[in-house]
Amino acid sequence: MSPWVIQRSWTITTSSETGRTELRLGGQSLKRIVYSEARIRERVREMGAEIAAAYAPDAELLVLGLLKGSFIFLADLVREIDRPLQVDFLLASSYGSERVSSGEVELLYDSGASLKGRSVILVEDIVDSGNTMNRLVPVLRDRGPASLEICALLHKRISTLGLEPKWVGFDAPEEFLVGYGLDYSENFRHLPYIGSI
Ligand code: IMP
Ligand code: MG
Repeated sequence: MSPWVIQRSWTITTSSETGRTELRLGGQSLKRIVYSEARIRERVREMGAEIAAAYAPDAELLVLGLLKGSFIFLADLVREIDRPLQVDFLLASSYGSERVSSGEVELLYDSGASLKGRSVILVEDIVDSGNTMNRLVPVLRDRGPASLEICALLHKRISTLGLEPKWVGFDAPEEFLVGYGLDYSENFRHLPYIGSI
């Protein structure tokens, strides 16, 4: 089997200029597959086990997913955390339809869950400029959690955060990545692997 699943809507062509195979979806070409489905699955399994082991049995764990990018990662991750926990979501907007951060972070949807006294894990798809995390962490800290940690699937390591993620799936290359929840202009989130465009 090939290392990734190519969905039916992709077309595979050979570039007449470079002679290289290109994957195209909706007119957009994917440069390469960066993390295959199998590699992601294995890493998420490891992270889930590490998270489960990091908390006392009586800790009230709240896994807070940052929408929309974390939705697939979070769904897979919580199923690998073998202990009681609750799940909620936040929706922050920072990018609009651009590929570069605007620096503004707006909470478009806020979790209704109380953070007081709970062990909160903020789950993020990718840390890029760090703006989103740097602005959200103080807001969540003000709500009095017993602890607050970040779990990021990807970290581009181009920024330093006030609170560095305790768990990182992969140190990502400085490319624009899509798939497994990550989008470009709301497209590509459904790909089961992560590629660069
Ligand atoms: P930051 O605030 O610059 O750290 O960016 C955080 C958010 O920007 C992430 O949650 C993503 O939604 C988005 N983002 C950053 N880099 C990428 C990328 O390479 N592909 C897709 N989305 C990205
Ligand atoms: Mg996004």
